[in-house]
Amino acid sequence: MEATAYKPIHKLNFIELWNAKKDRFTLMAKSPAKYPDVFGFKVPGRDVLVINNHEMVQHIMVRNMRNYQKDHGYKVLSILVGNGLITNTDHSSWRSQRTLLQPPFHRESLQGMCDIVGDATTQLLKRWKAKEGTEINFTHEMARLTIDIVCRTLFTSNVTEAQVQMVWESLNYMNAIGAKMAMNPMHIPFKYPLPSYVKGRKYIAELNAMIYGIISKRKSEKNPPHDLLQLLIEAKYEDGTSMTDEQIRDEVMTVFLAGHETTVNALSWTWYLLKQHPEAEQKLYAESKVFETETPSFKDIPNLRYGYQVMNEAMRIYPPVAAIGRAAVESEEVNGYFIKARTITLINIAGLHHHPAYWENPFAFQPERFENFNMKGDNRFIFMPFGAGPHICIGNNFAMMEMQLINAILSARVELELVSKNIKPEPLITLKPGNGVIVKIKQVKS
Ligand code: HEM
Repeated sequence: MEATAYKPIHKLNFIELWNAKKDRFTLMAKSPAKYPDVFGFKVPGRDVLVINNHEMVQHIMVRNMRNYQKDHGYKVLSILVGNGLITNTDHSSWRSQRTLLQPPFHRESLQGMCDIVGDATTQLLKRWKAKEGTEINFTHEMARLTIDIVCRTLFTSNVTEAQVQMVWESLNYMNAIGAKMAMNPMHIPFKYPLPSYVKGRKYIAELNAMIYGIISKRKSEKNPPHDLLQLLIEAKYEDGTSMTDEQIRDEVMTVFLAGHETTVNALSWTWYLLKQHPEAEQKLYAESKVFETETPSFKDIPNLRYGYQVMNEAMRIYPPVAAIGRAAVESEEVNGYFIKARTITLINIAGLHHHPAYWENPFAFQPERFENFNMKGDNRFIFMPFGAGPHICIGNNFAMMEMQLINAILSARVELELVSKNIKPEPLITLKPGNGVIVKIKQVKS
């Protein structure tokens, strides 16, 4: 095909890029109205193409996925998580890693997690009872709750309040400097003594000490529980060798990093939206009322239908991962557009979720749109908060079940008032609600 025969791609000029810097999320979410398929811009040394068309997404994420590798952003992540599942770019070792890690994430394996969620959320509300009438940072509270749940579910480990605080601060900090590094193509190696790197290395050392501590304690246990950590410890490679402690650490850190901020942000945005849509909050309450006195468990999940719709709609409007980056290995034509080798293709999840060709009234919060939404076929590349294709989030069942249960309990047992106004979404590695959603605890029912 002659170069001239390719469809033209609009490239943002300097002024457009400058304006975009002020509010990147809005630009990304609104871009399909102007550029339904794709648009581009340049960063030093690289072309970036923002993909808004679902067929092109399917091509990049599934059909020709071998030609699109995890980009520079994932190299930055590997500073923290080493060579865990999310950062491994070697297809065949990633495949065996994924197969190995999959079992504890199957729906059926997560039954025990549901009881832990019920227990941890009930404990949280006991603490909130003492704070009635005061303001809290809902996002921070969800961070502590979900770290506790992840540690108890996947590592059967009760972490102390101080450790929870440390994990939260570390992940938060690494997310912020990681995003800065990922967006800066002039890569300054992490070993350099920049003040932000020195602080980052201190946090990593603290996280390492905690994780290596959990691993070594577990290795000395006579009757260890069957959880993700044990699975990693007992795993054998084809040559009969086991994973080193460092490899186990990388996977544990991956699960922390990939699962933490995403879930916390999704919960925060959900309540930010619910508090602005009392009719939806009321409908959720009608479904969850029974949990004023009972604690929901695995068997209740199929009945939390409206809660499921609310979660999906919140993640449609504010996708916790707003974009996924892949770098093209070889040049090729996709849907009539030319993608040059080394181009960074950004799968614009925020854009796909607000695309006027795919959604009616895309900026309105309408959980009911998910009542009969088919999660299969083309829709997998139109609504994709957990990504799509073989790299789809391994923790998606874990996250959905956890969030549905937390929301059902909160809806049934606590009355909150929204204090934060006009929160600006901050697209770092995940889409953060600024410094967090502030709410006032009006009443905890007990
Ligand atoms: C609302 C919550 C969550 C959201 C929105 C989310 C989103 C995503 C997305 C978009 C990807 C794909 C990244 C890519 O293709 O490059 C992904 C991958 C991944 N997620 Fe999640 N995630 C969530 C929760 C979790 C949880 C709870 C865990 C673990 C406990 C987890 C573990 C992972 C891992 C390990 C991967 C890498 C999978 C692979 O490459 O094979 N995530 N997630």
